[in-house]
Amino acid sequence: MNENINAKNEIILTAANITKSYGGSVVLNDVSISIKKGKVLTFVGENGAGKSTLINILSGLVAQDSGSITYEGSEVRWSSPAHALKNGIAVVHQELTLFKNLTVAENIFAGNKSVIKFGKLDRKFMAQRSSEILSKLGLHIDVNTLVENLTVAQQQLVEIAKAISWNPKLLILDEATSALDTMQVENLFKYCRELLQEDIAMVFVSHRTPEMFEIADEALVIKDGNVVGFYPELKAVTDEDLINCMVGYSIQTSFPKKNQSETRPPIMEVENLSTDFIKEVSMYIRPGEIIGLGGLRGHGQEELLRTLFGLEKVRSGKITIDGKPYTVKDVSRAISEKFAYVPPDRKKEGAVLSLPIENNLTIPVLGQVSNALGWLNRASEESMIDRTRKRLSIDQRNWHQTVAQLSGGNQQKIVIGKWLESDFKILLMDEPTRGVDVATKHEIYLFLRELTKQGLSVLLVSTDMLELIGISDRIYVFYEGRIHKELTGDDITEENVTYAIMGLQGDKT
Ligand SMILES: Nc1ncnc2c1ncn2[C@@H]1O[C@H](COP(=O)(O)OP(=O)(O)O)[C@@H](O)[C@H]1O
Ligand SMILES: [Mg+2]
Repeated sequence: MNENINAKNEIILTAANITKSYGGSVVLNDVSISIKKGKVLTFVGENGAGKSTLINILSGLVAQDSGSITYEGSEVRWSSPAHALKNGIAVVHQELTLFKNLTVAENIFAGNKSVIKFGKLDRKFMAQRSSEILSKLGLHIDVNTLVENLTVAQQQLVEIAKAISWNPKLLILDEATSALDTMQVENLFKYCRELLQEDIAMVFVSHRTPEMFEIADEALVIKDGNVVGFYPELKAVTDEDLINCMVGYSIQTSFPKKNQSETRPPIMEVENLSTDFIKEVSMYIRPGEIIGLGGLRGHGQEELLRTLFGLEKVRSGKITIDGKPYTVKDVSRAISEKFAYVPPDRKKEGAVLSLPIENNLTIPVLGQVSNALGWLNRASEESMIDRTRKRLSIDQRNWHQTVAQLSGGNQQKIVIGKWLESDFKILLMDEPTRGVDVATKHEIYLFLRELTKQGLSVLLVSTDMLELIGISDRIYVFYEGRIHKELTGDDITEENVTYAIMGLQGDKT
């Protein structure tokens, strides 16, 4: 008994001062954690907080930029996930990685040399051990079944069984329960508790808070790559505390005040617009409005922006701007109709920068952005850049770096900045804050509100729920190429948007 208690407090892995950046944006900043035998540690944080990146570093899939990992008492540098796995760290990722045309047992033991006996697979052992693990997970299937014949939930259980088959000392589940139903999760937890009795250590990450509270002993709260909280006794914490710590700000305070009383006639009206991608879309936008276009990606909202900007062909329907018909032709026509467009993937700089500009520009250094901007007003180039920089508070120290070296936030400012001096009336933006740090996000929101105060309109595609509901005066939710729902005022809630995104009507509105 005593032995057990001691083992439970023993640290199996310590990560110290882990830092990781991707393309100039810091994804993990000085993160330190320790993982204990016989305990479950959970990572809590919004999408993009850095949970999976941390897991990928602990398990050898990704190398940290700085910081160290100590495992079973010695400092380690994993050369690959296989290296970490051989040493007892098994991870189940959210994405399924199974070979569809192999059997369940073959999948569970794929890559595991311990089942090769005299140069052959020990199929009897494989079948026995696979069945044993799977039945503990509540899955009673013939392990000679091909994986392609399993449901997604069953496949997820096979992934978990595969990790367990390595007899890991540290088992990491990264949103590995998303396809499982309550019963399956209960079975999994029962099995996990047995394993914990045997002093394996666990990291468990889940979108479902109740699951987390049920299985985890300790919680590390991560926000934008920083550790913002640690709860050594999760059971003593309420979910409200946890969420407050995780979000760190409420929707009301992080977004500028909305404009819900706009009554000026629409600057743009779209009637029954159809393209190859969208069907009979009708909507309008008034001067001074921020309109959010919601939906899962690929449901048509991004095509509406592209069509308005002359990047897609119209099949039928009508668009009027300031009461006059607008015939979609190409980008120059769109610009002359006073559209500006910020595309979703600012990494494809060339494309981004070439869009509004006749001569295709690639801007290797910011010093040359001035040339890119010069098309707008070469005479007052310098003062214009200065204004842009001030309006967007782009850090002057970055001025001579390449764009690629800038943080995601500053890159985005450059992309937006290009348009500032042009004379647009409707700003089309596709995921303007993706990969942007939280402080810059806030600046971008303030800036968009500024624009609307000058009577400009913003049409914004976002899959970030908080952003969509936090910034939009009205929301059109797309589903399968059509506008499925329009939400205004107090009906703009996470619940209503979620309903609509799934193509459901919902009786909440
Ligand atoms: N391979 C990668 N290249 C570039 N950016 C990445 C990569 N992996 C993750 N990121 C970025 O790192 C941030 C953290 O992502 P992730 O660790 O997956 O978060 P979480 O698991 O908490 O949702 C996100 O902004 C994501 O876009
Ligand atoms: Mg993740």
